[in-house]
Amino acid sequence: MFDIKNIREDFPALFELKDGRPIIYCDSACMSLKPKPVIQALTDYYTKFTACAGRSPHMFSRETTKRYEAAREKTAKFINAKNSSEVVWTKNTTEALNLGSMILKLDGTETIIATSESHNSNIVKWMFLENAGKIKLKVLDAGETGICSLDTFSAAIDECQPGKFLVSLAQVSNVTAGMIDVPAIAKIIHEKEGIFQLDAAQSFPHLSVDVQKLDVDLMAVSMHKACGPSGIGFLWGKYHILERLHPMILGGETVSDVKIPNTIKMLPPPAKFEAGLQNYGGVIAAGAAIDYLDSIGMDNVHQHEVRLSKVMLEGLEEFGDKISYLGPTRAEDRAALAAIDLKGINPHEVAILLDDMYNIFLRSGYHCTHAFHHSLDLDQGTLRPSWYLYNTEEEVKVFIEALGEIIDTLS
Ligand code: ALA
Repeated sequence: MFDIKNIREDFPALFELKDGRPIIYCDSACMSLKPKPVIQALTDYYTKFTACAGRSPHMFSRETTKRYEAAREKTAKFINAKNSSEVVWTKNTTEALNLGSMILKLDGTETIIATSESHNSNIVKWMFLENAGKIKLKVLDAGETGICSLDTFSAAIDECQPGKFLVSLAQVSNVTAGMIDVPAIAKIIHEKEGIFQLDAAQSFPHLSVDVQKLDVDLMAVSMHKACGPSGIGFLWGKYHILERLHPMILGGETVSDVKIPNTIKMLPPPAKFEAGLQNYGGVIAAGAAIDYLDSIGMDNVHQHEVRLSKVMLEGLEEFGDKISYLGPTRAEDRAALAAIDLKGINPHEVAILLDDMYNIFLRSGYHCTHAFHHSLDLDQGTLRPSWYLYNTEEEVKVFIEALGEIIDTLS
């Protein structure tokens, strides 16, 4: 049972006061707040057994290794991976997507397919590689809904050479909040032997994600958006793909032996990708975040967020043509966030007023989707509240009321 009161008690930051008054945190698409077990796991690592994993024989190191690998096991189970060796720790989604790109030969013959609403983490690298003549890039126009039709994908894939393309898409957009039909797209991609890389930064924290059902080949996740600590994420990949993937960073613990003048024996995945000392505390606390989400149940998280979305969308409708928001109009079809076009009112100014006067914390601007905002002539950017499992319907209503008062004052 989803008990919002108990859940809120788990997140100390929700009870911080600003100017002696409560705060409303609705910037979870950027960074989620952290529940007590995650903070405790991080503290335990730094207070009780700080050490490096997999290297030294002493008790601290053994404890670190045990918990580091346990976190990998939990993560694998949580996403229904076939094996924990399919989970590679990274800094965040961006690093995971960059690592995923190491599957490419970069000989100028491969095509990358992305969509216009892509986050910069899933488009800048591709533009960079295209400028260097290493790939061909096709950016499909996702329009205001942020979702391309299956026909659009089929047509684009038909123009690619079989086995010589990679499609890299976000499951949930961080601006339109729209969700793509991952298994249907996977089928089209695999019929032509392409690789499907999924940016799950905005889906993993909010939905049940099963990599076998989704049938993607690579998937990138940030734990800082999913109740975990900052600075840790992961790349999941089908094992045979990880075997073909080149490491991005090389060094200690990626090799089983090295001889001079030049012989290196690489370790198998995931070790070959985890060079040097790692963010052990972050990984262990990420495991605690997964336990936490698992104890609540991702379906419960999602249903709660649909309720929040409904309240938000109904509230936004009341503004008529004073504002508009991107993406699908049904709460069931979207994540609990909205990029709001304030029709000439500066979103940064509104975000600052929301903070100053109402203690409401959210994000304004392009939300790392510059290209998408420009393609829709939203050159001032948008205002984006993004809600999570710890928010209440009451908080959403307070936001709507505050936004109304600010718009009335500024227009
Ligand atoms: N991708 C993060 C956001 O949308 C940073 O806010």
